[in-house]
Amino acid sequence: MRTKISQITQKDIGKEFKIMGWIKSSRISKNFSFIEINDGSCFNNLQVILNSDIPEYEFITSKITTGASVSIIGDLVKSQGKEQAFELVAKKINILGECDPEKYPLQKKRHSFEFLREIAHLRARTNTFGAIARVRNTLAFATHEFFQQKGFLYINTPIITAADCEGAGEMFRVSTLDPENLPKTDKNNIDYKKDFFEKPAYLTVSGQLEGETYACALSDIYTFGPTFRAENSNTSRHLAEFWMIEPEMAFADIKDNMNCAEDYIKHCIKSVLEKCPQDIEFFNKFISPGVIDKLKNVLAQPFERLEYTKAIEILKNSTKKFEYSVEWGTDLQSEHERYLAEEHFKKPVILYNYPAHIKAFYMRQNDDGKTVAAMDILVAGIGEIIGGSQREERLDILEAKMDKMELDKQSYWWYLELRKYGSVPHAGFGLGFERLVQFVTGMENIRDVIPYPRYPGHCDF
Ligand code: 4AD
Ligand code: MG
Repeated sequence: MRTKISQITQKDIGKEFKIMGWIKSSRISKNFSFIEINDGSCFNNLQVILNSDIPEYEFITSKITTGASVSIIGDLVKSQGKEQAFELVAKKINILGECDPEKYPLQKKRHSFEFLREIAHLRARTNTFGAIARVRNTLAFATHEFFQQKGFLYINTPIITAADCEGAGEMFRVSTLDPENLPKTDKNNIDYKKDFFEKPAYLTVSGQLEGETYACALSDIYTFGPTFRAENSNTSRHLAEFWMIEPEMAFADIKDNMNCAEDYIKHCIKSVLEKCPQDIEFFNKFISPGVIDKLKNVLAQPFERLEYTKAIEILKNSTKKFEYSVEWGTDLQSEHERYLAEEHFKKPVILYNYPAHIKAFYMRQNDDGKTVAAMDILVAGIGEIIGGSQREERLDILEAKMDKMELDKQSYWWYLELRKYGSVPHAGFGLGFERLVQFVTGMENIRDVIPYPRYPGHCDF
């Protein structure tokens, strides 16, 4: 039976193992050869020694090339070298899949992340992308662990929807109509009655509205699914397809929401530091020096909680030159968000009570009549990682707000009914999963923390 490299420890010295994996590098010589094998189960390679007394030594070593896949049976011995504690002395080796060293795009040198995006089908074999995949997996597991331990129910909200949650109109259309030959109504408009759903439909930008309906029945729920935004943002923090975690809590206010969000982020960080030490060590050394200290610093103290109005004062009094100036009422740019978290407070910041007019229609109006009970969490290097709010549970106020924002109340009829039948105070937030992976790994570009990034002009693989 095959053993994964991650399962082999120093205690196993003296035992026989069968391992399978891909060759990362090799040093071939006449009497013996060293091969580095990786099977993705952990960051570290296993060093294999191949002595020339093995049958067909010369033929086999001619096939030992970077990228080839192999199956090896051997004995685990204490290593002579300083680099590793143990190594495998091969008794039998099978080349499963050859790899032409002249053509293999992943040479043993450092490739740029831009280049690796063009070969995204192979980049998971590199140290960096293997480590990202493992950290991403650990964060996903930690997410379920956190909410399940707290008694939240995992629910699946629809991916195809007719509702625009954020009301921002940045949705991808879902249609089976023939764009070359669109059916028309008498008035020469597109006849959506002939479309698959008999009305316009889109890919969801957020599962929140549907999530609220379940929270208003089951108390605490969370979603974890793909979301889509057709915004033309070419930044290192935006994707057209990204994953979002959206908890929603009934009988909860904005404070409960902040506490939950802060605990959740801290739980995720703890989990990665505990479960992926080799991967994080790698990021700390080669990708983002100091990332481990940064994460430990996040765990060590409470997040700063600050009203939007106070943040504007801080930004206006700052001597820092911003590209965009701020006034009370302007939406913050990433440069402002990062300044607050990175430079001013040097820790994550929960900004709350934003001006109503820069936030979505569903956020709860505060008594001052100007602000809403919104909260964003801002972190170093990224800016906004979480957006959330207490929801407007009062029907009359919500309807007035929708009228003011010129939203079609008819199409949100079901959402409004939650406020007619047993309405409760409730709150929730959305965390962009890729931004969390970025934060934890220190990777600079969001396109490198999702296996197959989708962004303007790019939908490959
Ligand atoms: O702030 P947003 O737009 O909030 C919502 O969608 C709410 N419905 C969430 C809720 O209250 N249930 O998005 C939430 C988070 C952002 O803070 C950000 O981390 C991430 O989603 N996000 C993106 N991540 C990658 N690419 C994009 N284009 C993103 N847009 C938002
Ligand atoms: Mg937001």
